[in-house]
Amino acid sequence: MSLQQRADQGFRRDFGQPPTIIVRAPGRVNLIGEHTDYNDGFVLPMAIDRAIWIALQPRADGRVVAHALDLDDATTLTLETLENTGEDWAEYLKGVAWSLQEAGYALDGWEGVIIGDVPRGAGLSSSAALELATARAFSLVSGIPWDPAEMAKVCQRAENDWVGVQCGIMDQMIAAAGQPGHALLIDCRSLDTEPVPLPPETAVIVLDTATRRGLVDSIYNERREQCEAAARFFGVPALRDVSAAQFEARAHELDDTLRSRARHVVTENARTLQAAEAMRRGDRREMGRLMSASHASLRDDFAVSSRELDAMAACARRHDACYGARMTGAGFGGCAIALIRADAAQHFSSTVAACYREATGISPNIHVCQAAQGAEVVTAPDIVH
Ligand code: GLA
Repeated sequence: MSLQQRADQGFRRDFGQPPTIIVRAPGRVNLIGEHTDYNDGFVLPMAIDRAIWIALQPRADGRVVAHALDLDDATTLTLETLENTGEDWAEYLKGVAWSLQEAGYALDGWEGVIIGDVPRGAGLSSSAALELATARAFSLVSGIPWDPAEMAKVCQRAENDWVGVQCGIMDQMIAAAGQPGHALLIDCRSLDTEPVPLPPETAVIVLDTATRRGLVDSIYNERREQCEAAARFFGVPALRDVSAAQFEARAHELDDTLRSRARHVVTENARTLQAAEAMRRGDRREMGRLMSASHASLRDDFAVSSRELDAMAACARRHDACYGARMTGAGFGGCAIALIRADAAQHFSSTVAACYREATGISPNIHVCQAAQGAEVVTAPDIVH
């Protein structure tokens, strides 16, 4: 049974009638452009065919009643008196409701069920998927026009100021604005986006190392501070404003750590623009080369890879159908991705799984993924705004 059917069925069980609205929002992988979003730079993520679904109907009493089917857990929120009580998934719902109201939107309530297949904590942005699905639900029942960039900013604020995670804008933007068959080149300063087609006859494989690291948030925040310090040194608002030539001219004045961090961001921004160009030309080899170079830079200069991510990327690259491979997302654990020849997907997956198991003793989770649509309404009657 599809997730949509399970959401529909779960709703009927809870509320005794069919849902009036079903929305979904996807997880993501980032093809290239890592740790560049909070430096006002460029990213090239794609939404994947794993998503959070909400089946719902409006409620007239200013409340939200939500049942997370996978977790067998329910919550009731009163929109007028939201309170952060450190709940698990429910804080994302409250955070989005809070952030929408802070942005000046008047909200109506809803009741529904939530279900998804974005693995949690794997670095595939299940939280951004939940935020954008929630925003999509609120926008429909409250008659708020759907502007993907505006809603991404609202959801990022929910994550930053309600949930308390200092992420950039990438995950929310791609969950809001992804396009089937395409990655999205996002300028994280202007929030301009350009869909870029995946090279023909290629597949993107998600290689989950099955490792999760603690301390991710504190290391992430430390990297952000280092980037800000480097931008101050160059006298610019963000490292986005430092060209390769400007970097080279003054790099020797920086201490070793800041020099390495800044070098990653400056070169990664350039690689991301080159990667978009390579994809437009359908140049798989160049795209793959840039992905592998990105991994080396994240490992050596930005220091956010891990033994398992390195092993996974190395195993992937050893296969002759692989154009390139790299860690994806914040790092320290979670997933790598590989760009490969599409017809070799099965052989690639089993070979890389065996290689990784041999190298680390851990069984990975490997799946082929398709580039999917961002947050969308799957069913809704005309009577709803
Ligand atoms: C996490 C954050 C994103 C981005 C990446 C690194 O996924 O949520 O905003 O900074 O790390 O590229």
